[in-house]
Amino acid sequence: MYIEQLALKNYRNYESLSVEFENKVNVILGENAQGKTNVMESIYVLAMAKSHRTSNDKELIRWDQEYAKIEGRVQKQYSSLPLQLIISKKGKKAKCNHMEQQKLSQYVGNMNVVMFAPEDLNLVKGSPQVRRRFIDMEIGQVSPVYLHDMSQYQKILQQRNHFLKMLQIKKQTDQTMLEILTEQFINMAVKIVLKRFEFLYLLENWAKPIHKGISRGLESLEIVYKPSVD
Ligand SMILES: Nc1ncnc2c1ncn2[C@@H]1O[C@H](COP(=O)(O)OP(=O)(O)OP(=O)(O)O)[C@@H](O)[C@H]1O
Ligand SMILES: [Mg+2]
Repeated sequence: MYIEQLALKNYRNYESLSVEFENKVNVILGENAQGKTNVMESIYVLAMAKSHRTSNDKELIRWDQEYAKIEGRVQKQYSSLPLQLIISKKGKKAKCNHMEQQKLSQYVGNMNVVMFAPEDLNLVKGSPQVRRRFIDMEIGQVSPVYLHDMSQYQKILQQRNHFLKMLQIKKQTDQTMLEILTEQFINMAVKIVLKRFEFLYLLENWAKPIHKGISRGLESLEIVYKPSVD
């Protein structure tokens, strides 16, 4: 799989850009602040419907413009798949093979990307939140079910937190409701935690021999997932 063509409109510093890529290593060369990282980022956004460096989508729209458009063609098993993502101030719309996608969670995964950028050092140095985000984005690319579970989990978490607040200020007294919400919350959390364990197990097995090679056998890499619950 590779991206053979990319077109940007009002994306970051690009009013309009069209590039063709080779099915090999492509090198993007330019002075500082010319938009090299912006091109990389746009490919990532086209694949993930999210940026690797900001959670504020509005930043991606060229200043003083209403929307940004990213289009690309992905070469997959001898056929090419057109993808399109429009980011406006109201939200995002994705098209795959010219058809509008109802859910972004279903759109993600049409093109798989791995981003490696200086900011990735934060995976080691930064907060657990950075690591969780990384794990969630990676699993999400290969498992639409996981993306769906994640959004359900967020919903139940919010509902339960809201209910707890209501109990505290005594606007609610229904303990059975709390039990139901807690059970739903645990069910979703277990699914997510198990999937993260599985992912990190696979990642460790992939990364271990590579790290061993890089460190000439001097170091042994271990990746351990420590969720905040037992
Ligand atoms: N929403 C936006 N609208 C217009 N310009 C933007 C927007 N967001 C960022 N820029 C511009 O994009 C440029 C930075 O681009 P980018 O980070 O891709 O540079 P780069 O080529 O990777 O540079 P470096 O070599 O320093 O890494 C800056 O000039 C910045 O002002
Ligand atoms: Mg850069």
